[in-house]
Amino acid sequence: MKPSPKILVVFTATGKQGGSVINYVLNHPELSRQYKIRAVTRVPSKPAAQALQERGVEVVKADLFDKKSIDAALSGAHTVFANIATSFDESVYPKEMLQGKNLADAAVAAGVQYIIYSTLPHTREVSDGKHAHADAFNVKADIEGYIRSLPIKSAIFAPSMFYQDFYQMFFVPKRQDDGTFTIFSVVSPDSGIYCFDVVGDTGKFVGAILAEPDKFKGKTLCAGADFCTHEEIAEMISKATGKTVRYKQVSVDEFDHIIPSTHSRITADVMLFLEEHGYFGPEAKERVAWSTNHIHDKLTTFEEFLQKNPLHLE
Ligand SMILES: NC(=O)c1ccc[n+]([C@@H]2O[C@H](COP(=O)([O-])OP(=O)(O)OC[C@H]3O[C@@H](n4cnc5c(N)ncnc54)[C@H](OP(=O)(O)O)[C@@H]3O)[C@@H](O)[C@H]2O)c1
Repeated sequence: MKPSPKILVVFTATGKQGGSVINYVLNHPELSRQYKIRAVTRVPSKPAAQALQERGVEVVKADLFDKKSIDAALSGAHTVFANIATSFDESVYPKEMLQGKNLADAAVAAGVQYIIYSTLPHTREVSDGKHAHADAFNVKADIEGYIRSLPIKSAIFAPSMFYQDFYQMFFVPKRQDDGTFTIFSVVSPDSGIYCFDVVGDTGKFVGAILAEPDKFKGKTLCAGADFCTHEEIAEMISKATGKTVRYKQVSVDEFDHIIPSTHSRITADVMLFLEEHGYFGPEAKERVAWSTNHIHDKLTTFEEFLQKNPLHLE
């Protein structure tokens, strides 16, 4: 008799990382036999959740602030993909810690075998207190520590900057009076950053863990498909769009003025942290190479991403 598929519960299923994991598993001949996906959303009637249902995915309603709903979502589950959305406000740390603990504790209580957790570096600890304010990063690292302390097997997925960040919000090239475009940030033009296609490629890392969970137990897969300087990023966008795109380094105050947002100062602090410490710490290059060598699919370069996803600058 064939073993019945293991239930894989995917949080943030209607979002970028969770959606990528679901796509990868559904399209993978082996993993789609081994795992039955249960997609979590707060709003099962939303189009993204309906689309999953139409592809045969079980969709359940749960909210990471609501313990009872998490217990129900995890009933009978074998593996969990645990990603938590950031709420950019003053209480980001306690809010996200509560969601992380709710999820991890419920997984242990439900007898879940394995958690794959999406993390970020601890900017305060890594920088010895210099970059202390990026609670949206620090809380993810602290939740990772909490999960590692629990009696449950786990592996960590560590995403770098999303290529998608250059299509929206802070880093989208801004039109100047002369018709050219500028990407503004606080780091030097020749400072490099790891980045990747969160939608296309998250599943490639998480899928490798799902295929060989024991091999990756306690390990971290760092997703960094491309390492580009900010100047190179501007050049690649210029080439892909046919528009003149430049990179301009500005002060934190200027950045806050150019991109007024409740979290532009924190974003600036994060970018300075990444410039000084890299995304994955002092052995970033080795960690990224190890991770890339342990997955089974080719990753998307930024140039390929720009070709596949035309960026319309207006
Ligand atoms: N931007 C970057 O460069 C970057 C780099 C590395 C890591 N990250 C991290 O990536 C994370 C976001 O991941 P993403 O981009 O994949 O997410 P996303 O596309 O923004 O989607 C967020 C998802 O979270 C779900 N959600 C929100 N609140 C929830 C709650 N209370 N309970 C259950 N589900 C909830 C939403 O689902 P429903 O609405 O359907 O419930 C939605 O699917 C952030 O925490 C960020 O820090 C970002």
